[in-house]
Amino acid sequence: MENNVRPDSMARIDSIELANAFIAEQVEAVRKQVGNKKVLLALSGGVDSSVVAALLIKAIGKQLVCVHVNHGLMRKGESEQVVEVFGKELDTNLVYVDATDRFLNLLANVADPERKRKIIGKEFIEVFADEARKLEGVEYLAQGTIYPDILESIKQAEGKKAVKSHHNVGGLPEDLNFELVEPIKLLFKDEVRVVGEALGLPRKMVYRQPFPGPGLGVRCLGAITRDRLHALREADAILRDEFDKCGLAGKVWQYFIAIPDIKSVGVKDDSRYEGWPAIIRAVNTKDAMTATIEEIPYAVLNKITARITAEVEGINRVLYDLTPKPTGTIEWE
Ligand code: XMP
Repeated sequence: MENNVRPDSMARIDSIELANAFIAEQVEAVRKQVGNKKVLLALSGGVDSSVVAALLIKAIGKQLVCVHVNHGLMRKGESEQVVEVFGKELDTNLVYVDATDRFLNLLANVADPERKRKIIGKEFIEVFADEARKLEGVEYLAQGTIYPDILESIKQAEGKKAVKSHHNVGGLPEDLNFELVEPIKLLFKDEVRVVGEALGLPRKMVYRQPFPGPGLGVRCLGAITRDRLHALREADAILRDEFDKCGLAGKVWQYFIAIPDIKSVGVKDDSRYEGWPAIIRAVNTKDAMTATIEEIPYAVLNKITARITAEVEGINRVLYDLTPKPTGTIEWE
């Protein structure tokens, strides 16, 4: 527990120099902890796991085995980026698992958000454990735990109730009894990003907006279908592209599309066209406990609407969610 408390004397890592000193310190600590043993890491491609991966590659090179589970609920291009950056550029020991069918088959006809989260979390562990069992000589499990995660578990241990379960990865099965390696567990998110930059990770990865563990699964509202999930992924990619182009990408905390399981009547090429609405959500917050709405310029909204309705099969309307948190939560589910 003591190791889980950030000492008052620890300086805020806000420069590349401080980040480099932190990296050097952790490289030594990791080498000392794991010796010549293998370390396993679930690499989602998010900031935290990517920074841990890059740090461990520096410390122990090919002793690190990264497993990337594509649950079929990633945003457009994300799994490809993990393979490109880690598999190719950094020449990591990377195991890529396309588990799309496993996840989507289990999720078919499941509409309840908490059940969806539980299924995704449980299946993630099973897929990861299956891969871990195939590997030999692994004694350590690296995790991208950061300081807010530790503070959150303290809060939960004190009996404070969470609004949503927010589980990503729970405990592994008992036969996989790994010792943990958690090199960034005393860092706050902004510090993790500086360390990521110092490690030379692409800015796109380091400054990636937060993305929930259950991924697009909680944005394809209600029971997930492959066609609606596909429409969601494409519409979300257009939103991100337009935010990149107009400079909102670096400014807005979190922005995405959600698609409800309803259709409305519309018209396309002079014919009746029943389609789903795509809902734009763009919020700013400090700690995700409350959030305000980003005022997207009307011209940008128009452009996004025109592109999504023209380019994405199955969508005939675009809506803009103006609800702050509270009363809305950031995600719709
Ligand atoms: P809400 O919707 O609760 O979201 O206002 C607050 C922040 O948490 C993210 N979120 C999740 N993150 N697993 C996660 O890792 C989840 O199940 C989950 N649900 C919501 C959400 O994207 C926002 O940043």
